[in-house]
Amino acid sequence: MSAAEQVVKAVREASGLAISDSRDEMIELRLFPRLRALGADLEGYARAVAADERERVHAIELLATGHTAWWREAEHFDDLQQRVAPLLRARLDRGEPVRIWCAGCSTGEEAWSIALCVRLCLGDATGVAILATDISGRSIATARAGRYPAEQLAPLTPELRAVAASPAEDDPAAVEVRPELRRLVSFARHNLTGAWPMKGPFDVIFCRNVLVHLLPEARAQILGRMATLLRRPGTLYLGQAELLEPGIVPLRQLKPAIHVA
Ligand SMILES: C[S@@+](CC[C@H](N)C(=O)[O-])C[C@H]1O[C@@H](n2cnc3c(N)ncnc32)[C@H](O)[C@@H]1O
Repeated sequence: MSAAEQVVKAVREASGLAISDSRDEMIELRLFPRLRALGADLEGYARAVAADERERVHAIELLATGHTAWWREAEHFDDLQQRVAPLLRARLDRGEPVRIWCAGCSTGEEAWSIALCVRLCLGDATGVAILATDISGRSIATARAGRYPAEQLAPLTPELRAVAASPAEDDPAAVEVRPELRRLVSFARHNLTGAWPMKGPFDVIFCRNVLVHLLPEARAQILGRMATLLRRPGTLYLGQAELLEPGIVPLRQLKPAIHVA
């Protein structure tokens, strides 16, 4: 087995990631920043990844796709506002908490968009808690900082942008997420293929554009576990492009990427 294949195997076993292009030269290219920082060659790096959990996490971060955006796949936010928000409002009016999980949140844009949506439909949203998790500690650190280049909020209307963020004092090209949204979200590093310390039930789970990058057996296991953590009624949003095998989601399908318990 080549050194690149050894790294891919270790990453796959640790995260469930199915690396779509695992040619040796592609793997070396994506690992290059880390190899250069360590002054290591690929063989030495493969040994480090095998021996050290923290190095495996670095390799996962470099080989996982973290692409995300504010208000991505807007139809989910429409559904959250129109169909789901009245259910959440009813819970809050009864004094019951509302819990939302954003799994595979990357650098935070998705979690902050959910918080924005919640704020728009549920006002100050006291009683709502959003948990946002990702396997990448670096992504979680960026997410938690809540600071983005202003142009990244372009998918939002000016009114929504003003509710979501304010200009950074030290940089006119940057914005910072407003405290009203920060109050709603907590971030944590979490591997979906490892132990799940979080307790359900969740009213809503977003797990969009994550499973498509994982091995089929990891997907099925994660979906089964998510289904058991969903409250009845509850909603699971997957990515629009996630054409999962028929029957793999153990929930009722409302629309292609919207599943309900
Ligand atoms: C393409 S991004 C999707 C981000 C966001 N959900 C969205 O739709 O915009 C996929 C994210 O899944 C994360 N990820 C991959 N494998 C994971 C695992 N086993 N556990 C948790 N997160 C994982 C990656 O680190 C990456 O941030």
